[in-house]
Amino acid sequence: MVASQNPYSQHTLVAMEQAEKKISIDDLVVGMFVQDVFNARDVLMVSANSMIWDQSQIESLKRQGVRHVHINVQKGKDVSPDHTPLPAPLPKNAPDEPTTREHEYYKELDRAKLVHRQTIETAREVLDSIKSGGSFSVEKVEKAAEGVVESILRNPDTLISLSQIKGYDEYTYTHSVGVSVLVTSLANAMGYKGERLLEVGIGGLLHDIGKMRVPESILNKPGKYTEWEFKVMKKHPEHGIDILKDKKKVSDFSRAVIIQHHERYNGNGYPYGLKGEQIDEVGLMAAVADVYDALTSNRVYRAAWPPQKALALIFRGADEDYSRRIVERFTKHLGIYPAGSFVRLISGAMGVVVRVDRGNLLAPSIVVIFDELGKRLEKPYEWDLAEKQKGSDGRKYHVEISLNPKAYRVDPGQYLSENPMQ
Ligand SMILES: [Fe+2]
Repeated sequence: MVASQNPYSQHTLVAMEQAEKKISIDDLVVGMFVQDVFNARDVLMVSANSMIWDQSQIESLKRQGVRHVHINVQKGKDVSPDHTPLPAPLPKNAPDEPTTREHEYYKELDRAKLVHRQTIETAREVLDSIKSGGSFSVEKVEKAAEGVVESILRNPDTLISLSQIKGYDEYTYTHSVGVSVLVTSLANAMGYKGERLLEVGIGGLLHDIGKMRVPESILNKPGKYTEWEFKVMKKHPEHGIDILKDKKKVSDFSRAVIIQHHERYNGNGYPYGLKGEQIDEVGLMAAVADVYDALTSNRVYRAAWPPQKALALIFRGADEDYSRRIVERFTKHLGIYPAGSFVRLISGAMGVVVRVDRGNLLAPSIVVIFDELGKRLEKPYEWDLAEKQKGSDGRKYHVEISLNPKAYRVDPGQYLSENPMQ
């Protein structure tokens, strides 16, 4: 009998359907049981299957771009009777959805690798020269920043991914490049153009030049600074401006990145303790990019944090250390699971995020390294969850959680710099 193959009786199926209600995110309240979560284009983001215990969960869903959810009114609260029905969903495949993402990304890969290498070389030259009391060529820095801008304009994700590959040494150089790439691509996403974009890139590359006047014993000190050491350290933005005093070609806009990247939204930063909108937008952007790159880098005294852990910390600092508006923009730009995250899908399969989909942050492109049973694959393959959410079994898949790649002996960098199709 057909009925015997179905674990649910007809009655149960009808009851399950009736128990599910589609509501707007604005009608979601604590005590409701969320079944599925959808974005603005009516694409399923997550089968949450969980109870809302706390208002912060709702805020977090909103920040992730969730527009409506399916609630189960048998497992949790129902909507109040005066609730208004949802408007019709937006059409699928809205124009912001690129169709050849993969192609564009890999087309840029070789060029971005070259840009990345050359920019690190320029950073090395400039910083080493300042350290030994010499000078440097602004034109060279400009040229490097131009390479960064051009690569980002061709494809923003490729260079971001490459600068997420962190070695164990050369922090000073890779950090300068990492901040430049992050802040430039964020500025591009926020609509900065032309000269301005270039100036952001230059500011990023030079943001820490003042550190070349801080003794190495302080720069690389593990653990807490003494009051005196912190005082010395806090001088580096001003040292940076001082180093540039004869470099007329460096614009005020680039200088703002250097002098303001340690200012904090609540006024607790340095050197001037500027507050809120007293800080230039580019300074607010640089602060977030700087902290994110520092946390996701390997340091002498600690290993790199996984991207998601760094983002979570920055999010906790929204409205305090950082401008919430910039933090939200940054997260949207990098993705909830940024490139380089090692994640597990709900199927149990695990892999490295190589690209994000800004319209659907829970459905990035992943290089799958472990199958559903946890067996390491001989040939990892790429899976674009936004383009193809359903697995071969017809089930929908999405990211469940991010994990520490070290525990699985995975080096995410390896997958960011290779085209798995080759
Ligand atoms: Fe700094």
